[in-house]
Amino acid sequence: MWQAEVRIDLDAIRGNVARLRAGTDAEVMAVVKGDGYGHGMVPAARAALAGGASWLGVCTLDEALQLRDAGLTAPVLAWLLVPGLPLYEAVARDVDLSAASLELLAEIVEAARIAGRAARVHLKVDTGLSRGGAPPGEWAALVEAAAKAQAGGDIEVVGVWSHFVYADEPGHPTIGHQLDAFAKALAVADRAGVDPPYRHIANSAATLTLPEAHFDLVRPGIAVYGLSPIPDADFGLRPAMAVRARVMLAKRLPAGQGVSYGHTYTTERETTVAVVPLGYADGVPRAASNAGPVLLGDEVRTISGRVCMDQIVVDVGDAPVAAGDVATLFGAGDDGEPTADDWAAAVGTISYEIVTRMGSARVPRVYTGGGQ
Ligand SMILES: Cc1ncc(COP(=O)(O)O)c(C=O)c1O
Repeated sequence: MWQAEVRIDLDAIRGNVARLRAGTDAEVMAVVKGDGYGHGMVPAARAALAGGASWLGVCTLDEALQLRDAGLTAPVLAWLLVPGLPLYEAVARDVDLSAASLELLAEIVEAARIAGRAARVHLKVDTGLSRGGAPPGEWAALVEAAAKAQAGGDIEVVGVWSHFVYADEPGHPTIGHQLDAFAKALAVADRAGVDPPYRHIANSAATLTLPEAHFDLVRPGIAVYGLSPIPDADFGLRPAMAVRARVMLAKRLPAGQGVSYGHTYTTERETTVAVVPLGYADGVPRAASNAGPVLLGDEVRTISGRVCMDQIVVDVGDAPVAAGDVATLFGAGDDGEPTADDWAAAVGTISYEIVTRMGSARVPRVYTGGGQ
């Protein structure tokens, strides 16, 4: 008997990646950072590879090494690297590294010498996001240094890449500006003798809506997990995560009774409330107080009162809800349950945050499909 669980449909992940793969001539890098957007990095990566992804994308060196520890041999790119990391481990284990500064490039060269082999590098250019990526004024120096390091056998420049600001709003003017900036950066690299096999800029939104941005490799994240990067758009993807728990206690309360901390909810009449053992320690946003939708007793209802660390309360009226009944916070929507998008709308965030934060050490992830 289970109490609360996060269910992950690996067949959905595999199918979503197959759908993305079918829509492009580029290779697909499944982005599995952030513990696979909360779906479990290694199982998500395996399912994505089974669906036709040929690359994996993560942020940290540790994430990349965990993929290698799990026996995954596909190319992996790690892109969030502070100074002083043991990058030789990445080089020794065939992890591709992103570089956006001369300093990091020098560290990678040093790591390659320690590892005794060429490091695989993707040079990142800032085309307008103003986050990671070399600013245009430093780009020429970076590619020239990379060309030199490549000629010396210390690195192999595998990619030149960037990231979109606003691909989730098709037609937004930043998209064209970024594509122009990317083309200029590629031309500068070419003049320096850097002509990598992989040019990549497309996230999920661009993968689904902007073929001219696919280049050699696309990097979808949220779409892999079946959620639309563009609110209200239907790309035929299938959400992979469902979150549910069994009712711990159902009881009658009188009219006019305050519920949960601060009594921010008051019963309007005599009613049944159900206590569900999931709270903000498990990833339920506290902002879902009096807002988060829950399927319980054949109806979608709203959380009554504050979300606590470990539990929520749901007013179910006179529905015959009893301890042990299943409350579904969100899922694919097949049985009328809310979706992660419904939760995002209710809480004022994006589906990315809803799924990525979901789960805790005490809530098991249960995998279905994917040969599990
Ligand atoms: C550099 C980079 N590429 C690709 C992605 C995937 O983005 P999305 O989940 O919108 O597809 C991310 C995620 O934020 C990212 O940081």
